[in-house]
Amino acid sequence: MIDVLVVGAGFGRDFLPLYALHPAVRRVGLVEPNASRRSAVAAELAVDDEFASLDDALAGGGWDAVHLLSPVRFHVEQTLQVLASGRSCASAVPMATTLDDVERVIDAADAGPGRYMMMETALYQREYLHALHLRDTGALGRLTYLSGAHMQDLDGFPPYWMGYAPMEYATHIVAPLLGLAEASAQSVRCLGSGTLRDAHRGPGDNPFPLEAALFELSTPEPLVAQVTVSFFENARAYTEGFNVYGEHGAMEWPSVEGEPAVTYTAGPADGAHRGRPITREAAEIPDRLGDLPMSLRPHTRKGTYSPPGGRPPVDLHAWHGGSHPHLVHEFVSAVVEHRSPTIDAHRAASITAPGIVAHRSALRGGADLLVPRF
Ligand SMILES: NC(=O)c1ccc[n+]([C@@H]2O[C@H](COP(=O)([O-])OP(=O)(O)OC[C@H]3O[C@@H](n4cnc5c(N)ncnc54)[C@H](O)[C@@H]3O)[C@@H](O)[C@H]2O)c1
Repeated sequence: MIDVLVVGAGFGRDFLPLYALHPAVRRVGLVEPNASRRSAVAAELAVDDEFASLDDALAGGGWDAVHLLSPVRFHVEQTLQVLASGRSCASAVPMATTLDDVERVIDAADAGPGRYMMMETALYQREYLHALHLRDTGALGRLTYLSGAHMQDLDGFPPYWMGYAPMEYATHIVAPLLGLAEASAQSVRCLGSGTLRDAHRGPGDNPFPLEAALFELSTPEPLVAQVTVSFFENARAYTEGFNVYGEHGAMEWPSVEGEPAVTYTAGPADGAHRGRPITREAAEIPDRLGDLPMSLRPHTRKGTYSPPGGRPPVDLHAWHGGSHPHLVHEFVSAVVEHRSPTIDAHRAASITAPGIVAHRSALRGGADLLVPRF
């Protein structure tokens, strides 16, 4: 049994109940500097251990594992702090926003004894698990092309998002594309598109509301993954999805979020028509519950959580394709079983670095840059 601290009560609110429900978790605590947010979430979810800072929480001793859901600029230093204390650390994406920081996290994770996991929701969403199934059952055939886009309008988000370089948050698309190709990104050419208005500029060097990258993958045959990320000045409703194209079949993310994904299957050429017959179907995507504990299984779908002590039930939305219970279970299991999590520091680096290098390429007008291997 382990004790887990959740850091940040924004997105972190969605994870507190899942840790509380996990059979291998004894105690869950919350770190949140904003006092009113902290007490509201702790009261709503019946969390008894609350702290105003990570320093306070760690100084008190105890706690086997920490899940960081603080703003991106804190991820690296908090990860290093947690790992240096000997505890295990899960971090919301991205792992880091510079290659030097990626290396620092790898070094800290390799030093042990704590485990590191990047909590990449895209690698446990049901659509990705379904695409893996299509690939592994031969329905796609040899892969020909991969693409994906994360488009989200960040107007109204906390000010620290202003000017954020889109490709430095490309993990939600890079991760499934590399996973499906079983490859790493070798090189990238990326262009920025549009020019950020002054109101959307931040302290950094990013002038682009949108970046579009072409990655060359490390597969034996040439394979390209195209990734687009935009955060501002693009009137597109939220989308965060991928498409995979193979010789025999393909799967496309729906153009409207929440609608079913689409699969395509090519029949044999009949000699009488131009082009092979291609069947298009709305994909029926099951929840692949794997070895999820019974207590977490209902929470791959929207539902409610009943906190202890007779508190009123609260809504749990199960965003991101039902991935949250899987991430919690994988992180907790890795800590309990003293093993590397599926998205350890090296895999996290191979997912995070391509976007970091892509942004550099965009700043250099589309220069062809090598992505380091991890
Ligand atoms: N699909 C995904 O994987 C996904 C989705 C949403 C958010 N995220 C990531 O989760 C993290 C949190 O996102 P969010 O939308 O909740 O952000 P947010 O800014 O709304 O909330 C972050 C919370 O962290 C608190 N905080 C600020 N500084 C802190 C510090 N030094 N230590 C501890 N807590 C601190 C803030 O008070 C706030 O309550 C971000 O890194 C974001 O990129 C990932």
